[in-house]
Amino acid sequence: MKKLYLQTYGCQMNQYDSERIAQVMGRMDYESTDRIETADLVILNTCSVRDRAEQKVYSALGRWKKLKEQREGVIIGVGGCVAQQEGANLLKRLPHLDLVFGTHNIQKLPQMVEQVQASRSRPVETAFYRQPSYMEDPQGRTDVQGAKAFVTIMQGCNKVCSFCIVPHVRGREASRPSARIVAEIQSLVRQGVKEVMLLGQNVNSYGKTSPGELSFAELLGRVNRIEGLRRIRFTTSHPQDLSPELIEAFATLKKLCEHLHLPVQSGADSVLSRMRRGYTRDEYLARINRLRQRCANVALSTDIIVGFPGETDAEFANTLELLKQVEYDEIFSFMYSPRPQTVSAKIYNDDVAEAIKKARLQEVQSLQKEIALRKNRASIGNVEEILVDGKSRLKNGQIMGRTRTNRIVNLTGDETLVGSLLPVRIIGATANSLIGEELTAQHVSDFRSEGEMA
Ligand code: SAH
Ligand code: F3S
Repeated sequence: MKKLYLQTYGCQMNQYDSERIAQVMGRMDYESTDRIETADLVILNTCSVRDRAEQKVYSALGRWKKLKEQREGVIIGVGGCVAQQEGANLLKRLPHLDLVFGTHNIQKLPQMVEQVQASRSRPVETAFYRQPSYMEDPQGRTDVQGAKAFVTIMQGCNKVCSFCIVPHVRGREASRPSARIVAEIQSLVRQGVKEVMLLGQNVNSYGKTSPGELSFAELLGRVNRIEGLRRIRFTTSHPQDLSPELIEAFATLKKLCEHLHLPVQSGADSVLSRMRRGYTRDEYLARINRLRQRCANVALSTDIIVGFPGETDAEFANTLELLKQVEYDEIFSFMYSPRPQTVSAKIYNDDVAEAIKKARLQEVQSLQKEIALRKNRASIGNVEEILVDGKSRLKNGQIMGRTRTNRIVNLTGDETLVGSLLPVRIIGATANSLIGEELTAQHVSDFRSEGEMA
């Protein structure tokens, strides 16, 4: 068998795409390795959402130049968002690169590798397809490992957030047919999956560009009925499209986990308007309040950009105030960087000094740390169901899993528990994770009879 070394940068969508890459190449007799020096095919799956992510790509590719000298015949390819954005420019810039495939062209990779082998040509495939069939692997999913799986339900984004490159590198919104999604999840469940993460850049728009298709809330209802499936998550939602039906789904669907990632980006209306987000702070807060009324224990996470062009101290203070008001369970915060083709890069100067961006980022993160620690400590004593993911990263002999609210729990436990749903008592907390302990048999039966398990 030949060996594939695959390195992935970026979001969950990219992780999912990497699984697809491993699967299509697996059928060509390439098995995955984590030792790059032994690989026959080396692929970098790239992210261009922020400047720093893109720079990482170039430094990794620079380092890979020596692979060509060390191992004859090794093929080096680049996929993902930087590949989509740069296309053939990458080949010009990096003479040791063999092939470039964009975000819609994973299924073409085997053919491209064969082309390189046969003729030493340097293929580039970055076409966009309007039909959602480019997301389908005609042979289905056979790569399942563990109890959790990503399932793409749509690709692309039709929003116009001024800072965002995603619509340019992932194309227009296209939804997979719901019947295929359901069949795929049924097959994943047969292969041992208990939790699915439905993926899309803006899942709330699911179905909108496919006449007659289910809405996102209806799709969730349908997936909730799949026998054997225990947990449903999804990401990401745009606040503008958080419909009353979706809020209702959190109140009624047993398998839908109580966690919503709802990127707000900024707490200042003026910045939200320059970002072209399409909602005000009050509209955002009203939706969160409605959701919390219908599902009191829902956990919330968000994305924040600091240092957007023109962001004043007063505008930034609005973001801090919003964080205090909402008390998110987790945030992902970024310093603004201008991205090619985006509106904000074209019409605004990147005028917030780097030092100010860094200071603001730090302020956001330390405020969030306090909030998260307080919230995590408040959960001590609770009994939560976790899905055990694997060994803990913190300590030998410990395992880790996630609660339905997406908190990480570390506990002493046997590795044979990996993949199982386990009620645990929370006995400690840090800002980033919880410490749990296994319940005794008596506690488990009390917990079950209280009907707290989904
Ligand atoms: N809907 C997408 C959003 C993709 S971008 C999703 O699936 O998550 C992820 C996050 O990166 C955004 O929410 C935003 O906070 C951040 N981001 C995007 N473009 C950025 C830029 N130019 N500079 C800094 N952060 C950015
Ligand atoms: Fe980007 Fe806004 Fe879409 S952040 S992915 S353009 S919803």
